[in-house]
Amino acid sequence: MSAEKIYIFDTTLRDGEQVPGCQLNTIEKIEVAKALEELGVDIIEAGFPISSPGDFNSVVEISKAVTRPTICALTRAVKKDIEVAGEALKFAKRGRIHTGIGTSYYHIHHKLKTTEDEIIRRAIEAVKYARNFVDDVEFYAEDAGRSDNVFLAKVTEAVIKAGATVINIPDTTGYCLPQMFGDKIKYLIDNVPNMDKAILATHCHNDLGMATANSISGVINGARQVEVTINGIGERAGNTSLEEVVMTLNSHKDLNFTTSIETKKIMKTSRMVSSLMNMPVQANKAIVGKNAFAHSSGIHQDGVIKNRENYEIIDPKDVGVSESEIILTARSGRAALKHRLELIGYEPINGELDGIYERFLELADSKKQINDSDLELLIDRNRKDSRSLKLDYLHISTGTAPETMATVRLDVDGELQSATASGNGPVDAAFNAIKQVVKRKLHLEEFLIQAITRGSDDIGKVHVQVNSNDTIYSGFSGNTNILTASVEAFIDAISKIK
Ligand code: KIV
Ligand code: ZN
Repeated sequence: MSAEKIYIFDTTLRDGEQVPGCQLNTIEKIEVAKALEELGVDIIEAGFPISSPGDFNSVVEISKAVTRPTICALTRAVKKDIEVAGEALKFAKRGRIHTGIGTSYYHIHHKLKTTEDEIIRRAIEAVKYARNFVDDVEFYAEDAGRSDNVFLAKVTEAVIKAGATVINIPDTTGYCLPQMFGDKIKYLIDNVPNMDKAILATHCHNDLGMATANSISGVINGARQVEVTINGIGERAGNTSLEEVVMTLNSHKDLNFTTSIETKKIMKTSRMVSSLMNMPVQANKAIVGKNAFAHSSGIHQDGVIKNRENYEIIDPKDVGVSESEIILTARSGRAALKHRLELIGYEPINGELDGIYERFLELADSKKQINDSDLELLIDRNRKDSRSLKLDYLHISTGTAPETMATVRLDVDGELQSATASGNGPVDAAFNAIKQVVKRKLHLEEFLIQAITRGSDDIGKVHVQVNSNDTIYSGFSGNTNILTASVEAFIDAISKIK
C-alpha cells in the first residue's frame, strides 16, 4: 500500500510571528515564505490581515511572490475580518481563508459570553461568508483540546455542511495528552457523518512539551494536515515544530505516511528563521539544535565511529547537516582523537598517538573543546618533543614593578639547566634567561602574537624570528598561556640553529 500524504501547514509567519520580539517586516516575511516554498510546505499561513496594515500587506506580497503552496489568511468569525482576508488574498494562485471561533466551555461562557447554539450559528455564517471569496475555507474550533467531543462533532458537521474544506482541531492551550488528543480525532472521524468531505487538521501547542506527540497521535488517528512552525516557534512554549513531525514520520516508515518536505533543506530553513526572528534554537533541540548530532562522551564517540547507527536514528545528511560531530573534550577517548586526526589528514605512527593523547588531555583540561587547529598544534608539539632543546620549567614574576624577573629551566640533550634574568617585560626577561642557558648571541628580529578570537581560554599563537650570526631562524608555538607560547616559539627557533 502506498504511503498516505500528510499536508504540512506552516504557520511560522502567523502563529510564530505573534511572539514578542519575532516580528518581521514584509521583505523578511517574503524571504521566509520563499524558503518555506523551497522546503516543500503545502500551505503557508501568511498572516492575520485585519490585525494590522503590515500583516495585510505581507499577505498581499507573499501571495504575489510565492505561487506553489496555498496561501492562507487568518480571521475571526467576523464578517469584516473575512472581507479583509479575501481582499488580501486576491493575488494568491490558491488562497485559503482560515476562520473560526472558540468551542470550549471556557471560550463559550467566559470569553465570548454566549451560548453553544450561538457559536454554531456564527461558525456556519463565517464559513458561508468566506466561501464568497475563496473555494478553500478552513474552520478552527479554538481550544478544541478542552472542548467537549460531542459539541465539537456537532460544530464540525455544521461547518462542513456550510462549505468548510478543512477542520482544524487546535489544542490551543497545549493541555492534551497524546492518547486524549488521538481519541478526539478518532471520535470526530467516527461520529461526524460528513467527515469524508473535509480534511482534519491538528494544531498543537507545546505548553506541556507534548505538541509533537499529540500531532503524531492525531495523524495516527486520522488527521491528514498538521499545523506547525519552523523550530516550534510560537506563543508561550511554542507550536508543534515542523522538523520534529516530518522527521518522526520519516523515521517511522511503518506508519506509512509521507510529506512533500525536502528534508535536506530543514537545517538551512531553521537557521534562517532563527536569525531573522532573533530566536536562538536551544542547543539540545531535536533535529535542529547545535548538539542534535554531536557526540561528546567517549563511549558514544567510539560507538558512532564504529557505526553511526549505534547512536543515531537519523542520518544528519538527511536534514542538511554534513556529518555527525565528534566533540573532542576531556571525556573523549583515543578512538575519537585518532578519528579526528585522520579527518584532518594526519595518521599517527608508532606510539605517536599516545604522546598526542597525553597532550590532548592536558589541553582539554584547560580548554572546554578542542578544535582542528588545536590538534594541529598538538601534532606540532609532539614532533618538537624529539628535539634536543625543550622547555622544562618557566616562572615569571611580573606586575607594576619596573623590573620583571623570569626563571627558565631547559632540557638540553637530557640535562636540565636553569637561569634567572630580568627584563623590561615578561617576554624580554624570559628570553634573556634562555640566552644565558644557551650561551649564544641572539637577536630577536620579529615577534608576532596572533589575536585570540574564540574566548579567553583559546590558544594564543606566537611567531618569532631570531638572528644568529646573520642567519634568520623562525620559531612558532601555540599555548593557552601566551607567555609560555612566546618562550616555546623562541626555543623552537633556537633549536633550528646548527
Ligand atoms: O492556537 C490556536 O487555537 C490558533 C487558532 C487561531 C488556529 O492559533
Ligand atoms: Zn495556535
